[in-house]
Amino acid sequence: MSEALRADVSASVLCWLATADAEGHPNVSPKEMFTTLGDDSLVIADIASPRSVANIRINPRVCVSFVDVFRQRGFKVEGKASLVEQGHPSFETVAADLLQMAGPDFPIRAVIVVAIDKVSRIWAPSYRLFPERSLEERMQAAYDTYGVEPKAKPE
Ligand SMILES: Cc1cc2nc3c(=O)[nH]c(=O)nc-3n(C[C@H](O)[C@H](O)[C@H](O)COP(=O)(O)O)c2cc1C
Repeated sequence: MSEALRADVSASVLCWLATADAEGHPNVSPKEMFTTLGDDSLVIADIASPRSVANIRINPRVCVSFVDVFRQRGFKVEGKASLVEQGHPSFETVAADLLQMAGPDFPIRAVIVVAIDKVSRIWAPSYRLFPERSLEERMQAAYDTYGVEPKAKPE
């Protein structure tokens, strides 16, 4: 797993988990509690995701995308998902980072472990259209577009 992928996971507020049922009907929903696990997996907390979980039980193929909205880039990750439910002997280990993120107010019913098969970069079109722009200019443009100001200047 690249450092760029780790960095964008931690800088992305949400990921979007896409699953499909046995007939191929697609489903996508946002998850805030997600992070990396080791060198080749993502983990996502099932707090309130019944349809994603039901789909994964019958069709483990998933796609997860996330973007750092300020740097205007992210990743699309394809892989095979498995479920580690609360009570399973490895739950505490697999869920350790997610449990810390979620805290006591958001009980995690299961961890969705995505074994990564394929990683693709996501770039905002502005990277192609305006390649001369610096990262600082891109971030300032995003702050202007979204009407926000950083509390501290990012590195
Ligand atoms: C900002 C935001 C963050 C969310 N984070 C999570 C999460 O980390 N885990 C989770 O299970 N549900 C999370 N949800 C809720 C699910 O997206 C929501 O319950 C959704 O309907 C689940 O759909 P599904 O059953 O198709 O997975 C979040 C929703 C929002 C709006």
